[in-house]
Amino acid sequence: MDITVSPELEQTSGDLLILPVFQDRTWGPGASQVVGELGDWLDPYLDGLDFTGKAGQTASVPGTGGFGRILFIGLGEEVDADALRKMAGIAGRSAMRDAAVVTTLSAIDIDGAVDAVVYGFLLGQYRFAKYLSDQRLSQTTTLTLVGEDTTGQLEHAEIVAAAVAMARDLINEPAGDKKPEVLAGIASDMATELGIDITVYDRDQIEQERFGGLLAVSLGATNPPRMVVMSYRPGGATKTLALIGKGIVFDSGGLSIKPASGMETMKTDMSGAAVVFGTMRAVATLGLDVNVIGIAPLAENMTGGAAQRPGDIYRARNGKTVEVLNTDAEGRLVLADGLALAAESEPDLMVDIATLTGACKVALGGKIGGLFGSDDEAAGMVLAAATRSGESMWRLPLEQDYRSKLDSPIADLKNIGDRYGGAITAALFLREFTSDLPWVHLDIAGPARADADDGYITKGGTGFAVATLVALAEEMAGS
Ligand code: BES
Ligand code: ZN
Ligand code: ZN
Repeated sequence: MDITVSPELEQTSGDLLILPVFQDRTWGPGASQVVGELGDWLDPYLDGLDFTGKAGQTASVPGTGGFGRILFIGLGEEVDADALRKMAGIAGRSAMRDAAVVTTLSAIDIDGAVDAVVYGFLLGQYRFAKYLSDQRLSQTTTLTLVGEDTTGQLEHAEIVAAAVAMARDLINEPAGDKKPEVLAGIASDMATELGIDITVYDRDQIEQERFGGLLAVSLGATNPPRMVVMSYRPGGATKTLALIGKGIVFDSGGLSIKPASGMETMKTDMSGAAVVFGTMRAVATLGLDVNVIGIAPLAENMTGGAAQRPGDIYRARNGKTVEVLNTDAEGRLVLADGLALAAESEPDLMVDIATLTGACKVALGGKIGGLFGSDDEAAGMVLAAATRSGESMWRLPLEQDYRSKLDSPIADLKNIGDRYGGAITAALFLREFTSDLPWVHLDIAGPARADADDGYITKGGTGFAVATLVALAEEMAGS
């Protein structure tokens, strides 16, 4: 899609014009003049549709002047960047069949309006159509934004949206078509394209490197594991951010097997890894002045004859022994090795991203990510980046009193606690592998996947956390 900015609505034309409307049908930028041209039938017509300008409402009418069709979109009382992203997502979805689209949404007087509209519009039009005979992809070829872009917001939004779309593609891909080896190959191709370093460890190297958790989880699978380590190092950067993403390409639960219904969505259990890949793409494309290490332990959690058994003990990368009492608590085992590896290079901040616990989804629902932080500064930085990006995250406590739930009589720790506070015990488990460095854990079990389209979110993999992590990297780069 070719996206441009135009200072005046008068200079544009196209198949569709999208105009914002505030509460009580208060016309947004550009709307009054067009409405005047449409004629007296418009108000009674919109009355009939009960279109008041409530947030998210849309109404389509025949066009005037150089436009084939006009879409009014309701913004409610007032709008911030977050709401604008969502409304642009709805607008994008309504514009799928229109080739040349123009909108004045970007002329709304808030900081980052162009960024918000481009980001929302592009992601609202996202489709995973690879396996559909009738693909029904977006027909939009040009988008003209009325407004001003003095700060490169347009390009920024295009880069971040492309990174989110890439993550969505990987998450939506069926597990049978994204074996660890295949996913690592995609990461390698991306790294080559971006000119960043990458090392991929195969099964034997995983054993030699003592990534014991990753190996243990992979034992029941025919498809061997991979450990992906990417490194973006622009000359002269002073800070280093390490990202570690859970890459379980399919989670059957292992021998502690899941019920059939619980398995239906488990191809999305590599969302953390997809988010790391997407973030690396955006950071490198933007050329941010910060070192970023991207680590993705990739494995399939299966039930083959060589699978780890409940009660088995393995030794992790940092030397700690773990008694595996539930093989479905596998994400923490692979992340533990990723965190231990990251900690060895003493980064300024480590962030892990994982669809880690059903408990976190129960606690916060499908739209909010759980956030745990080693300290207020680290947690605060990531929370602020999430707010700037329009992603909801809520801090949960690393309650020291619960650490004893992970005590094992025969190993350094066990991999599950009791029935309660499951998101917290999972986070406490991970902390054992962080060498007490600044660290944030994002449990995205809820928002990594959506059951329905909503704003710029599309049903299926969402790419949740890519935008936050890019904003975090920007903050660390001082840009
Ligand atoms: N991948 C799941 C967590 C999950 C559940 C993500 C639902 C998204 C939606 C994870 O590996 C898992 O199975 N966790 C267990 C942990 C338990 C055995 C301690 C869980 O949450 O039930
Ligand atoms: Zn599991
Ligand atoms: Zn899992």
